[in-house]
Amino acid sequence: MSNIILTGFMGCGKTSVGKSLASTLGAAFIDTDVWIEKNYGKVKDIFKNKGEAYFRQLETEAIQSFIDTCDNHVISVGGGLPVTEGNQELLKELGIVVYLSATKKTLIHRLKGDTTRPLLAGEGWEERLDNLLTFRTPIYEAGAHITVSVDYKLISNITEEIIKRLEEMEKGA
Ligand code: S3P
Repeated sequence: MSNIILTGFMGCGKTSVGKSLASTLGAAFIDTDVWIEKNYGKVKDIFKNKGEAYFRQLETEAIQSFIDTCDNHVISVGGGLPVTEGNQELLKELGIVVYLSATKKTLIHRLKGDTTRPLLAGEGWEERLDNLLTFRTPIYEAGAHITVSVDYKLISNITEEIIKRLEEMEKGA
């Protein structure tokens, strides 16, 4: 099986859907944020001490490392990773890209009270989320082979839908 990559905004469920998809397909699961934390420390601290631009370099490094080492993996990538120039091409080289789309309403509901994501920390986070979502949505769409909407769906249903869409893609439907 070629790798399957999950993209989408923070809070869209890439990690939970990714784990479910990997276990259903008998594939390994890996996450760029986890890879970065293993090698460089907490995402929050990297943003604070070294800045966002440095974190973006680490994301690209993670993807390049996955291209060299991963096969039969489900890979969840950080919400901002597809935005960095050149990463969309790297993701397509890595495997089939599945974009998990979610509405602003769903994301606000899921991210309320979150303290782990530096870009949404503090006052005015809902407006920042809205601006980022508007900017990123066309980028996610352009970079995906498959788009699946996640609003009001169970993880198991999203997993089934992705598998069905992958099978259709394989058959050339
Ligand atoms: C980010 C998303 C986060 C993490 C970092 C920046 C973003 O990952 O990489 O906080 O720019 O959207 P998740 O999408 O897994 O939350």
